[in-house]
Amino acid sequence: MEMVSSHNLLLKVLQLFVLLAGLTSYTEGRSLKCSSAKPCSDRTPVIIIPGDLGNQLEAKLDKPSVVHYICYKKTNEYFTLWLNLELLVPVAIDCWIDNIRLIYNCTTRTSEAPVGVEIRVPGFGKTDTLEYLDPSKRGVGMYFFAIVQGLVNDGYVRGDDIRGAPYDWRKAPNENKAYFLALQQMIEEMAHKAGRPVALIAHSMGNVYTLYFLNQQPQAWKDKYIETFISLGPPWAGVAKTLRVVASGDNNQIPVISSLKIRQQQRTAVSTIWLFPNANTWPADQVLIQAPTANYTVQDYQRFFQDVGFPDGWEMRKDTEPLVSALEPPRVSMHCLYGSGVPTPELYRYTTFPDGEPAVTYGDGDGTVNLRSATQCKRWVGKQTQPVKLVELPENEHVNMLLNQTTVAYIKAVLNQP
Ligand SMILES: *[C@@H]1O[C@H](CO)[C@@H](O)[C@H](O)[C@H]1NC(C)=O
Ligand SMILES: *[C@@H]1O[C@H](CO)[C@@H](O)[C@H](O)[C@H]1NC(C)=O
Ligand SMILES: *[C@@H]1O[C@H](CO)[C@@H](O)[C@H](O)[C@H]1NC(C)=O
Repeated sequence: MEMVSSHNLLLKVLQLFVLLAGLTSYTEGRSLKCSSAKPCSDRTPVIIIPGDLGNQLEAKLDKPSVVHYICYKKTNEYFTLWLNLELLVPVAIDCWIDNIRLIYNCTTRTSEAPVGVEIRVPGFGKTDTLEYLDPSKRGVGMYFFAIVQGLVNDGYVRGDDIRGAPYDWRKAPNENKAYFLALQQMIEEMAHKAGRPVALIAHSMGNVYTLYFLNQQPQAWKDKYIETFISLGPPWAGVAKTLRVVASGDNNQIPVISSLKIRQQQRTAVSTIWLFPNANTWPADQVLIQAPTANYTVQDYQRFFQDVGFPDGWEMRKDTEPLVSALEPPRVSMHCLYGSGVPTPELYRYTTFPDGEPAVTYGDGDGTVNLRSATQCKRWVGKQTQPVKLVELPENEHVNMLLNQTTVAYIKAVLNQP
């Protein structure tokens, strides 16, 4: 008796599954249409969302004044402001800082370019401005090239079924509303054209941008349009390095650039302050900055901004901290790839604060993103119905992981899954 009824039950469950599966493919077939005249693509369309400093920016000038006589006051055309190594040499860098900096307004709580500076993001929908950062010196700023070329070798077409979504990375998501609309439109367009949902591949801060975007989208939209989200080197809970950038500047060990000089520009980039280590993940008692007169943890940011002489930073922090601090699950299928085993700053000790060079204590990570931040994907395992896979890449540095054939092969395998 019991055997029979459980057998029947099993049959019913199976029938229900078949029915549901049928319904799902029916609704999908109806929403993302393809036909015998125009068959579905056999490739999952791909969109790349780059990280901080991860795509080109262009500027056009018509300024009332300049900081040095060698600086251009007016240009007829847009020129590459990032990355152009020729603009970063001594003296020229003063002009560059005066053009790339933002000015924060505490009343409107937004940041703007200085008077007479127009900034634009070239290449939305294309991949060239994020494959190489420096258009004049191909190879110097190689970024997403290995991944894009790897997919092109498999039949993908640049600007068609593999596209880039560059943005103004100086700003946080609260000041990039138009970008998210453009991204949504591009996803929908590519999905309809291919007759199947899209894969998102993000690097570094691009992941936190993507999480913010997915958190805003209704579940039905995500189910329809997003196949998977491949996350490379994600700083979900911020990175300790940002504190040094704001305190004393970070020339990334390029000796010709003075840290204090580059600090002027770095402090104005709201996105850096958005990526301060987050209280949702860092222990409340872990010191991040040690100075002669105080130790600073995630709970001491207000005082930190006062003490480094940058009180506007605290306003920027309040504007941006809540954007993803809850780390709500993205609720799409996820692959989190992160580097480990590379010394990564986790504490800065200053004898002269904030203008001195700090001594650095290292922990685990990819050289930029602390391991504890990158592995926060694990929060979402079991908190969403979609799978979340964590993949550790030992000895992979933050940017070099994009050039590693292990990464390229993993991405290809995910995209080739039936
Ligand atoms: C900030 O914005 C307000 C409102 O638009 C404006 O009145 C004020 O002059 C701005 N402040 C600065 C310092 O530009
Ligand atoms: C900061 O922390 C260190 C190590 O715990 C301690 O030796 C030092 O006295 C602290 N400094 C201040 C100003 O509290
Ligand atoms: C590439 O990644 C693999 C796997 O994580 C690692 O063992 C290897 O050292 C990396 N190669 C380079 C050149 O970084």
